Amino acid sequence: MRKKVTKAIFPVAGLGTRFLPATKSVPKEIMTLVDRPLVQYAIDEARAAGIKEFIFVTSRGKGALEDYFDNAPQLEQELRRKGKDELLEILKSTNMESGEIAYMRQHKPLGLGHAVWCARRLIANEPFAVILPDDVIAGDKPCLAQMVEAFEETQSNIVAAMEVPEDQASSYGVLDIKEDMGAIVSTKGMVEKPEFGTAPSNLAVIGRYILTPTVLQKLNKKRTGAGGEIQLTDAIADAREDGEEVYGYRFKGQRFDCGSKAGFLQATVAFALARDELRDDLWAYLNDVVHSEKAAQ
Ligand code: UTP
Repeated sequence: MRKKVTKAIFPVAGLGTRFLPATKSVPKEIMTLVDRPLVQYAIDEARAAGIKEFIFVTSRGKGALEDYFDNAPQLEQELRRKGKDELLEILKSTNMESGEIAYMRQHKPLGLGHAVWCARRLIANEPFAVILPDDVIAGDKPCLAQMVEAFEETQSNIVAAMEVPEDQASSYGVLDIKEDMGAIVSTKGMVEKPEFGTAPSNLAVIGRYILTPTVLQKLNKKRTGAGGEIQLTDAIADAREDGEEVYGYRFKGQRFDCGSKAGFLQATVAFALARDELRDDLWAYLNDVVHSEKAAQ
């Protein structure tokens, strides 16, 4: 029988040190692109891919994240009273049904692989998606929905992949390609953060995965890898070594690394320019900046 992906894990237990001091009290995933927190983009993408159960792996200090998904009856009442129907609809669209969302704690930031492992009891014996909310992907068809379609064919592990320049490969997990079939590549394995000059290809893994329960079993070993962390990439590579297929998927869309300041700022500009009510003013401002910059040179 063909398996369906209905559960997604959102690992959000990282320290977010690149955004200190903000992340002293604000979880990175609550930071907003225009007016929506990163985590809302992730939830919307998961829903569009048919996900029904949303599992967050959180940590100390992420209370604001749980509050964000609560209903806000007082606020809704006030908006209704003032006739602000549009805002009311926006607010309602962020509500999560009771029982749809679950939270697990990762007690120590031991790495992405460990965060995913923390959710193992809620996954049991099914394929599942992993979404890193700080990778935001803009495109006509949401990235995870593209991957779910590919999974319907392959029924095996799929990781989102994109080409990166050679000097950036050591920041990513990198695919060891067996056969390049265009949108999909089959792999011999993958390496987390390869040393400069040793990357097996220029196809890097970014924050969307569809994985089989075998990967969770491999995470049971709790092996530490690059950076002294328990790496998800290593567990996927182990599953591949055991004979499971692992595919890379070249998604269509533009990925923003919102875990870095530069990526976050680029995403802010891109998402603001995509909004009718903001585009003209922002565009005029950006033009001014470019012109005065050029004039000064
Ligand atoms: P990052 O590598 O971006 O780490 O994690 P970070 O802690 O969030 O941010 P910096 O590097 O200190 O600025 C990638 C993803 O893995 C999750 C993070 O929350 C993020 O979604 N993660 C990482 C965990 O859930 N637990 C961990 O132990 C490590």
